[in-house]
Amino acid sequence: MDITVIGRGHVGGGLARLWERAGHRVNGLGRDGGDASGADVVVVAVPGHTIAEALGKVTGLGGQVTIDTTNLYTARDDTFPSLAHQVKSIIGGPTAKSFSTVFAATYDRIAEQRVTPSNFYAAEPGAKEITAQLIRDAGYDPVFVGDLTPGARLLEDSSGLTRALAAQMGPFFYRYAAPGQL
Ligand SMILES: NC(=O)c1ccc[n+]([C@@H]2O[C@H](COP(=O)([O-])OP(=O)(O)OC[C@H]3O[C@@H](n4cnc5c(N)ncnc54)[C@H](OP(=O)(O)O)[C@@H]3O)[C@@H](O)[C@H]2O)c1
Repeated sequence: MDITVIGRGHVGGGLARLWERAGHRVNGLGRDGGDASGADVVVVAVPGHTIAEALGKVTGLGGQVTIDTTNLYTARDDTFPSLAHQVKSIIGGPTAKSFSTVFAATYDRIAEQRVTPSNFYAAEPGAKEITAQLIRDAGYDPVFVGDLTPGARLLEDSSGLTRALAAQMGPFFYRYAAPGQL
């Protein structure tokens, strides 16, 4: 796939490395923006409060399948039900939320784990399959939490629990499984 990742930091840069290793072509855009017109998938990996500014510098956005990875550490703008909905209002394509509940600091250690770590995702039907595939290609087991509404907001609202756990154990993996699968 041709993937444009907006944000070259821990998440954007890290996912770009994982997906390139899996055989995808990644176009990483930084703060100065760039062109996303050739992308099959657009991934948003900037601070949650900078979504409008960051996407405003990117040309060629229009209807691509989109994965929003963002979290928010400032007051929420209640114009949108979630950050992922804000992203969708700009790009307009089928949208998913994922990678927001896993730690970039552990990307390089996914492959050495005894069991495949889980990664939650919420997605509209048109983004579900591609997002699950890119989660697998990054090395995780995709765990679907439901459609973008209300799934994206549920994932965003779980960031407090994630931070509380990280304060106890540092960056961590998690694994969700049905009985009999562990
Ligand atoms: N780090 C994690 O483990 C983790 C996990 C889950 C979710 N997240 C979420 O993922 C997103 C990215 O996190 P990160 O850790 O990758 O952050 P980061 O390392 O600070 O990288 C942020 C990226 O966004 C760019 N950026 C910052 N302000 C911008 C602006 N006003 N306009 C355009 N681009 C801007 C930065 O550009 P420059 O390089 O030019 O500064 C950088 O490329 C955040 O929403 C975060 O909450 C992070």
